[in-house]
Amino acid sequence: MSEHGSSHCRAKCRGGSTILINALGSVPRSIEDPVSTNDSNVTGFLNMLVAARDAGVERFIYAASSSTYGDHPDLPKVEERIGRPLSPYAVSKYVGELYADVFARTYNLKTIGLRYFNVVGPRQDPHGAYAAVVPRWFDSLLRSQPCVINGDGETSRDFCYVNNVVQANLLAATVQDEQAINQVYNVAFGERTTLNALYVLIRDELVCASPDLSDLVYLEPVYGPFRPGDVRHSQADIGKAARSLGYAPTHSVERGITEMAGWYATHRDRKAAG
Ligand SMILES: NC(=O)c1ccc[n+]([C@@H]2O[C@H](COP(=O)([O-])OP(=O)(O)OC[C@H]3O[C@@H](n4cnc5c(N)ncnc54)[C@H](O)[C@@H]3O)[C@@H](O)[C@H]2O)c1
Repeated sequence: MSEHGSSHCRAKCRGGSTILINALGSVPRSIEDPVSTNDSNVTGFLNMLVAARDAGVERFIYAASSSTYGDHPDLPKVEERIGRPLSPYAVSKYVGELYADVFARTYNLKTIGLRYFNVVGPRQDPHGAYAAVVPRWFDSLLRSQPCVINGDGETSRDFCYVNNVVQANLLAATVQDEQAINQVYNVAFGERTTLNALYVLIRDELVCASPDLSDLVYLEPVYGPFRPGDVRHSQADIGKAARSLGYAPTHSVERGITEMAGWYATHRDRKAAG
């Protein structure tokens, strides 16, 4: 969530809200190095709860994760029904929820957890072993390299544009209804898109935004193995956030990818000019 720039963690003074989104992301990274994931996402998270409690912050908003649904088969996902975690990352994010709940009941800290579903937006890092699929594919296509799809491409996700996530964060930080506090909420658009459909969408929107890349329509993706720890399908029920926070996402996956394609086209032109 690069929209948040360098101020990922904002520990505010007494009376304010803290929004905590720092964590070591990535399911594969956590499978390779569970200790580092635990250090940041569990110990680091606990340190932040203690700091927030001691600083007397009014409200502690934190990034939870859709990975908490684990192997629960129901679709769409509703907050109360979770399965067994499928990765150390998923464990770490769920432990955060448990700690937040205990701090609410034990120390009266007001918390809200936001279970983000695959967040997408401009400025996400496309590089490195743990880059997310959308910036990685934009980057590959801009270099006319085939994109790698893990598995058969029918894995699906509820891709959520960053503007929707920002809206949810601000609503969580400002909601007045006491019933809405000390809860977790899904933050997503509420639809699911397969990787195959996502690929076509990204490719076509990029060609629309950069007509000189029209040959990309002939570039076929490459299919690789399924990724360990990945859930097959993910889609959120966003009714709870809508009812309690007034959440109303503005960006479908199509609108989000269109905006991203425009951003990449401009960014690419600027790079070429510079
Ligand atoms: N991006 C998604 O699709 C997604 C989905 C669900 C949940 N989340 C959660 O949203 C939050 C942000 O994710 P993101 O995708 O923007 O990741 P990101 O890697 O872009 O940002 C995470 C930031 O946390 C910092 N960080 C990690 N460990 C730290 C530590 N111990 N101390 C201080 N800073 C530390 C990193 O340096 C990085 O700047 C995370 O909590 C992640 O678990 C993200």
